[in-house]
Amino acid sequence: MTNSTLTIALSKGRILNETLPLLAHAGITPAEDVDKSRRLILATSQPDVKLLIIRAADVPTYVEHGAADLGVAGKDVLMEYDGDGLYEPLDLNIARCRMMVAGVPGAQASGARLRVATKYVNVTRRYYAEQGEQVEIIKLYGSMELAPLVGLAERIVDLVDTGGTLKANGLAPMETIATISARLIVNKAAMKMKHARVKALIARLAKAVEKNSDE
Ligand code: ATP
Ligand code: PRP
Repeated sequence: MTNSTLTIALSKGRILNETLPLLAHAGITPAEDVDKSRRLILATSQPDVKLLIIRAADVPTYVEHGAADLGVAGKDVLMEYDGDGLYEPLDLNIARCRMMVAGVPGAQASGARLRVATKYVNVTRRYYAEQGEQVEIIKLYGSMELAPLVGLAERIVDLVDTGGTLKANGLAPMETIATISARLIVNKAAMKMKHARVKALIARLAKAVEKNSDE
């Protein structure tokens, strides 16, 4: 992307749906219907601002490498991400949930170690290391709630909002690892090279977040 363009990486679904009203407040609206479009680069009402549509877990990678100037990513994704080249200047206070340990109440480890299924292997490894507990971590890519039901693991580490998914699968929340919300992230070089525009956008988004929390 050229130096005059500001690019913002977003993921379809919850993050995009909840970020669009904040961007609208900052005067940025997509030039086409994001739900219908198959385009991965979307023009906006501001000629020098573009949106990149990518997978949620890829947002920090694009921003750290400067392929996007800014991005919106869940704190869960940022905690799991293995990099340090990002600024995280603003909690957008959207896509709020908790990262939790859950399982079948009373289920014991079948072997020496508790088996924990999750897509958050780095966070889970750190969490149990802090607890001083040796566990076996089983990497999954989704639908973690199934693992304890079919004997793959005794515990899962997953996101919980209403608790409805756990309940529907006979699981109970056990421990909270972190409270989660989506964050604005900024590429370090862009923060320097495009300082005035990035700063102005952060300020406008901060106002939109404030207004959201008043409602
Ligand atoms: P992908 O669809 O690319 O596999 P994903 O399933 O993580 O990614 P989403 O379900 O849209 O994508 O979640 C995006 C972000 O929204 C998560 O990283 C998390 O921060 C937040 N989130 C996920 N589930 C919930 C939920 N039930 N309630 C509130 N926020 C959530
Ligand atoms: C998320 C998360 C849980 C569920 C928790 O999944 O992975 O399964 O939400 O929400 P609840 O406590 O309100 O039931 P999501 O619905 O986003 O599906 P996905 O992981 O397939 O995107």
